[in-house]
Amino acid sequence: MLKLAVLVSGGGTNLQAIIDSIADGRITGARIVTVISNNKKAYALERAAKAGIPAKCISPKDYENREAFNDALLEAIEESQADLVVLAGCLVVIPEKIVERYENRIINIHPSLIPAFCGKDFYGLKVHEGALARGVKVTGATVHFVDKGTDTGPIILQKAVEVRDGDTPEVLQRRVMEEAEWVILPRAIDLIANGKITVTDGKVTEKS
Ligand code: GRF
Repeated sequence: MLKLAVLVSGGGTNLQAIIDSIADGRITGARIVTVISNNKKAYALERAAKAGIPAKCISPKDYENREAFNDALLEAIEESQADLVVLAGCLVVIPEKIVERYENRIINIHPSLIPAFCGKDFYGLKVHEGALARGVKVTGATVHFVDKGTDTGPIILQKAVEVRDGDTPEVLQRRVMEEAEWVILPRAIDLIANGKITVTDGKVTEKS
């Protein structure tokens, strides 16, 4: 049984998609052992509580420096004995020491078709503002392994979503969440939990 640590920062709709997918069998062989938020006001913490999942807030504001926060975050993940760390709407920059400790065992959902509209300046609504400003006709979401870069790790799954005339960033974000994020993040977890994913020379292959 793959143990999941889900890291969140906000509304937790991607966390909810994982909770619901485990409940209805779209994800098999995995369970969430902890939810960790850097934001004590994150509604994701409410969602964890409603689902009876242990949750905690580890906020940089509660530590004297970034190193101390990073150590506390690593300690919480290790304490949970998680096999896979899932960044689900998580806005925390994962420190190198955690990336090294969990090589190819941290996944992230990004709301664009990487390598488009990604990197340190593209997060949340900024991703969709960029897509609309460029006038792309198709955008989507990507699940990838986390490496030491920003949105640069091996790509696991992607799903395309059409951009419609008149879309606002908020409308587009919602469509990308509904039609892509909430579909491919649970699917990626299920593939990993069932041993279907391998990474070779930075490329992901899915066993049939
Ligand atoms: C979503 O757009 C997600 O792609 C991004 O953060 C936003 C909120 O996610 N990473 P959630 O509702 O907190 O899962």
